[in-house]
Amino acid sequence: MKKVAETLGILGAGKLGTVLGQLAVAAGYNVLIAGSGSKEKIELTVETLVPQAVPTTAAVACQQADTIILALPLGKYLTLSPSALAGKTVIDAMNYWWEVDGPRPDLTDPHRSSSELVAAFLKKSHVVKAFNHIGYHDLFDEPRPHGQAGRKAVAIAGDEQKYVEKAAELVERFGFDPVYAGPLAAGIRMEPGSAVFGANVAADELKKLLADFEKTKRGKEVFLARKKAERN
Ligand SMILES: NC(=O)c1ccc[n+]([C@@H]2O[C@H](COP(=O)([O-])OP(=O)(O)OC[C@H]3O[C@@H](n4cnc5c(N)ncnc54)[C@H](OP(=O)(O)O)[C@@H]3O)[C@@H](O)[C@H]2O)c1
Repeated sequence: MKKVAETLGILGAGKLGTVLGQLAVAAGYNVLIAGSGSKEKIELTVETLVPQAVPTTAAVACQQADTIILALPLGKYLTLSPSALAGKTVIDAMNYWWEVDGPRPDLTDPHRSSSELVAAFLKKSHVVKAFNHIGYHDLFDEPRPHGQAGRKAVAIAGDEQKYVEKAAELVERFGFDPVYAGPLAAGIRMEPGSAVFGANVAADELKKLLADFEKTKRGKEVFLARKKAERN
């Protein structure tokens, strides 16, 4: 695949953000990485782990990139700036994690996927869920060229086809097979508690895990809650 000359912003300079930064640099993107604060705070991390990327602030990353990956704790999504992200393709890679986010019933509500919450907050952005279910070490270890045996897959959920395709292109360029999971509501099939969460598998197996969601404990809980809400 031809290399790109597009600028990609990554919000979050932690485990996931830096590995996605490495994949993006390898795919030819100009990469801007931001943490929660000043660029000085993350300079050493970025210089060491993703030397070809530019450490910056979230405000500058949002200003300069049309596509932004959210690689920060989900519990902090309300600290994002909806106006800075307006009109952007926003790839939501976040998950609720009790140890980090604390008790947050809003983030585990079976009626709505966490990406629907994020999209409702970032009203003017085009939110697509991707890269959330696969561990950063697997993302680091497993990129492969298109068509190579053993290539692993990344699930994508989104409501707008154009932006789902953009996310799929990113996944492809990063070295993984994109698998469409459905609209943002179906993003719940990729969240913690699903069989997809943690999956580092090829596309066929990933499709099967997505389809089997209703057979899991979390799947049954989500199905019943949504059915009940439909009836009321
Ligand atoms: N780790 C994985 O394998 C993995 C895989 C898939 C998805 N995820 C998801 O990715 C997210 C990050 O996980 P992680 O393991 O990379 O966490 P992490 O190592 O703790 O890194 C989190 C990063 O987010 C930054 N941050 C916090 N608020 C921010 C804001 N408003 N704007 C920009 N950056 C902000 C933090 O900066 P400060 O230090 O300055 O607060 C830190 O650099 C989580 O939602 C997680 O569920 C993780």
